[in-house]
Amino acid sequence: MASNALRSSAALGGGVLERYADWLPLSESTPCITLGEGSTPLVRAQSLERATGADEVWLKLELCNPTGSFKDRGMVVAVAKAVEQGASAVLCASTGNTSASAAAYAARCGLRAFVLVPEGRIAQGKLAQATAHGARVLAVDGNFDDALTLAQELTERLPLALVNSVNPYRIEGQKTAAMEVVDSLGDAPDLHCIPVGNAGNITAYWKGYCEYFHAEIASRRPKMLGVQASGAAPLVLGHPVEHPETIATAIRIGAPASWKGAEAARVESGGEIIAVTDEQILAAYRLLADTEGVFCEPASAASVAGLLARHGGGSLVGQRVVCTITGHGLKDPERAVESISADLIEIDSNYDDAAAAIVEGLG
Ligand code: F0G
Repeated sequence: MASNALRSSAALGGGVLERYADWLPLSESTPCITLGEGSTPLVRAQSLERATGADEVWLKLELCNPTGSFKDRGMVVAVAKAVEQGASAVLCASTGNTSASAAAYAARCGLRAFVLVPEGRIAQGKLAQATAHGARVLAVDGNFDDALTLAQELTERLPLALVNSVNPYRIEGQKTAAMEVVDSLGDAPDLHCIPVGNAGNITAYWKGYCEYFHAEIASRRPKMLGVQASGAAPLVLGHPVEHPETIATAIRIGAPASWKGAEAARVESGGEIIAVTDEQILAAYRLLADTEGVFCEPASAASVAGLLARHGGGSLVGQRVVCTITGHGLKDPERAVESISADLIEIDSNYDDAAAAIVEGLG
């Protein structure tokens, strides 16, 4: 492996493997690959502080990762371990972001990537990423849960490394986001809000917070508030959902693989897993773009929708809150164009028309 070339972009502070090496299951022969993942911004959200009464609300902008989602943190570990173990190809099932990330890291390491996606239900930007990186994309006539079952069957029989979050290396990498929150804030927050689909990420955050707590780097652990879409809320209902439905396609999942991990995070943290409607998700999506300058994909806005649904009345006085913003808005251009096209003002190409429209806008 041309490890020097692969690690070149780590020069500015290092990727997840370098920064969190002590917390990851790496060996001497794990290649230290990176695309510059991790070290994502943590920014204050004053509109949410006003709405919830919290002293501080922080957004962990995981959309700033190299492929535009949090998946890169776990994928860099999973792909590095696949390379270490001599794999020549990786496979995953995905609602889009995992496939984009797997395809990018596989391309960087010279591995073939195969992805199974639910036909017609994946955002165009994510599909574009997977194909741009040369992945072979198989559109499955079924939902994500069917695709994941198929992926597990395929990797049992074919020489492919499975890089879904059932692969424990994915969880190991993703837990570094919680560690970064503590590293940035100096301690764990009181409450952490996070969207829940296949439930790998809530499992990973809880693991990260627990490891820092046990190592006495954090003095406490947050309550975890997991948020599902109401049409795809198996963890809230307590049973799998056969036909999950939501506009937040990234979390359109009826039988989460990390069900037990999510349950443990909820119970051990004294937290909750709640459901929000698509309308609440879209309201949070617009609020983040309008008032915070953060353009995320709908599934990511679920964390904020959940925070507002539970604490919109101002019950969080004295508390410090973090919401994970999991993926970038440009991944789902159709959703974005749908919500902004109504506001397009068509004008003739002349000063008077343009100025009139602007003066009207200035109100
Ligand atoms: N937010 C985004 C943008 C996602 O892409 C996902 C999951 C989640 C939240 C939920 O995270 O599954 O760990 O509970 N996306 C997976 C995928 C399923 O295939 O890209 P989770």
